[in-house]
Formats: sequence, structure tokens, C-alpha cells
Amino acid sequence: MLRTTLCRCGLSKNKPFCDNSHIKAGFVATGEPEARESTLAISDLVGKVTITPTENGPYMVVGKMEIESGTGRNVNRVGKCFLCRCGHSKNKPYCDGSHKAAGFEAP
Ligand code: FES
Repeated sequence: MLRTTLCRCGLSKNKPFCDNSHIKAGFVATGEPEARESTLAISDLVGKVTITPTENGPYMVVGKMEIESGTGRNVNRVGKCFLCRCGHSKNKPYCDGSHKAAGFEAP
């Protein structure tokens, strides 16, 4: 199983992946996200996952995946989601549309 860490502060020079830029920037994430009821079993997590950055918005992630918090706790298993990459969402790791009000622009 592939495991990767995606940037959610919006500052990585290697997006969509984390490059630890959040440390230098002093980025502080909101607390631990709540776990959600999943419709996928762990055995369903097979196949390709694609990550597509939307224009000046979240990552659209498609494929069967498990989302974990920074502490490694399972948050959800989904087939598609939109993950915040601007750092402003109040519902991290998910996009809540705050990138628009924040004027987030991705390179
Ligand atoms: S990308 Fe951060 S709130 Fe949408």
C-alpha cells in the first residue's frame, strides 16, 4: 500500500507533496479531524489513486484511499474527496471553500 503526505499549508515547493515548508512558516493546523463513518472496508483499498490540483483550489483526489490524521489515526476511507491545500479550511483535511475568501493562488 502506498502512503504519502500531502501539503495542506499551501507553501510546499513540491506540491502536492509535503516538503516540510510548514515548519519554517510556523503553520499551525487545526485540531485532530473527526473520524467519519466509512462505506469502504480496508480490503476495498485497491487500485490507482489520482491527485489533481484544481485551479487555485483544493486537490481533487480520486481512487479508493484511507485518510489518516497527522498522528496516524484513521479519519475516513473514501473513493473521492477534495483536500485543502491552501491552509485556510476550518474543516481540514477537507476543503470548505475558504480558499476563495483567502485569495489562494497556486503556482
Ligand atoms: S483549498 Fe483550502 S479551503 Fe479550499
